[in-house]
Amino acid sequence: MTNQNETPIYDAIQQYIKNRIVSFDVPGHKQGKGHKDLVEAFGTKCISMDLNSSKPLDNLTHPTSSIRRAEDLAAEAFNAGHAFLILNGTTAAVQNMIFYCCRKNDKIILPRNVHKSVINAMVICGAEPVYINPGVNTEFGISLGMSIEDIKKTVRDNPSAKAILVNNPTYYGICSNLKEIVRIAHNAGMLVLVDEAHGTHLYFGDDLPISGMEAGADIAAVSIHKTGGSLTQSSMLLVSDKIDAEDMRQTINLTQTTSGSYLLMASLDIARKNLFLNGKDIFKKVCNLAEYARNEVNKIGGFRAFGNEIINGDTVYAFDKTKLSIHTRAMGLAGIEVYDILRDEFGIQIEFGDIGNILAIISVGDRELEIERLLGALSEIHRRFRKEPMNMLEHEYINPLVIMSPQKAFYSKKRALPIEDSAGHISAELVMAYPPGIPVLAPGERITEEIIDYVRYAKEKGCAMMGTKDETMNNIETVEE
Ligand SMILES: Cc1ncc(COP(=O)(O)O)c(C=O)c1O
Repeated sequence: MTNQNETPIYDAIQQYIKNRIVSFDVPGHKQGKGHKDLVEAFGTKCISMDLNSSKPLDNLTHPTSSIRRAEDLAAEAFNAGHAFLILNGTTAAVQNMIFYCCRKNDKIILPRNVHKSVINAMVICGAEPVYINPGVNTEFGISLGMSIEDIKKTVRDNPSAKAILVNNPTYYGICSNLKEIVRIAHNAGMLVLVDEAHGTHLYFGDDLPISGMEAGADIAAVSIHKTGGSLTQSSMLLVSDKIDAEDMRQTINLTQTTSGSYLLMASLDIARKNLFLNGKDIFKKVCNLAEYARNEVNKIGGFRAFGNEIINGDTVYAFDKTKLSIHTRAMGLAGIEVYDILRDEFGIQIEFGDIGNILAIISVGDRELEIERLLGALSEIHRRFRKEPMNMLEHEYINPLVIMSPQKAFYSKKRALPIEDSAGHISAELVMAYPPGIPVLAPGERITEEIIDYVRYAKEKGCAMMGTKDETMNNIETVEE
């Protein structure tokens, strides 16, 4: 067992600063000496740690000393064959795992309720999606996990597919039967890629759904910055010991910055130490806070905070109880409306609101005090804002009609059409509410009246709609046929 108390990147930075090295390299602010405003904005300590790769500080793309050591410690902490520090968000981690196993025209099996980074990876590398419709919980209007029967059938029908990609968990905290998916995939010679943007805590807490590495998955993209306590944008890519780590590094280095931020890297190092040493206690507290909040929300009336009771042994194989997902439709309010009221009237910013639900992230940094504020605000919303539910859209998930690959559609000759007149055409763009960033339409899919209705409704309710070239989303780029 190596010493998880170490923070080799942070320590190397501190030594570098102590050595008072005179800088004739980048960054040009020279530890803030050339830019007083920057020091005032961020503080001396922070700016003096914003350094460039060099022998004493190692190099992210070819690490041999402190960064290498941090990778080894992270691999041990996450029980992985190897861990890579990723600095362009989990977007980059997700894309690297797809680039690693898919070339042009290779098939990849995946649920359609993936983050946009997955679809954009296919635009870049030319992989062809074989979508599995996730289960849908009609009461809450949310997408669930993939059923094992669907996985088996899809694997049988597509024996040449290179990999199966799994959300573990989804934004709402829902997990598929990952261990069984791994078994089926490996028997068919396919790799298992896990999007764990919302799953860092699964590696450290007790009594939580199984993590990707523990389930025997091959590669996992883990957002340490979301629930693990590192700085925004810092992430990790984990590989099992069956994957050649240096091959994976070659893939990562196709797009990895050559100017890795030492602030982000040090934050990963410090977060890993904290998670390893204190994770059990931290996530026990997080689970208790979330369970308490769930029970109290359900006493208010109108709102419904769902939990373990939605587990059904298949499309909800396990539930991540740290997620406080609350259904709002019975209040006569869309999730996005509650999201806006919480911020505008009560000064509370939650993770997202979609058309039927809100999600409050409870994490390392939360205390009882803030939970009570949220509960108080939800009670007030129930008293002041609830109305009869009328003309409310029921669900988020729309079965995609895939006509061509995302890459072919994205790079096709395009024609902009008013979105209201675009039914029947093929989209050349993504359409989504962000967050959660799960596209309702992806390049290569047929636009339908149902999708147009969804976009109209989501805009009307105040969702931030993104993905189209036209910022107003009045027009959409379609494939010229
Ligand atoms: C499921 C999922 N995957 C990947 C990402 C991308 O993560 P990042 O924002 O760190 O790039 C997100 C972001 O919200 C996500 O929800």
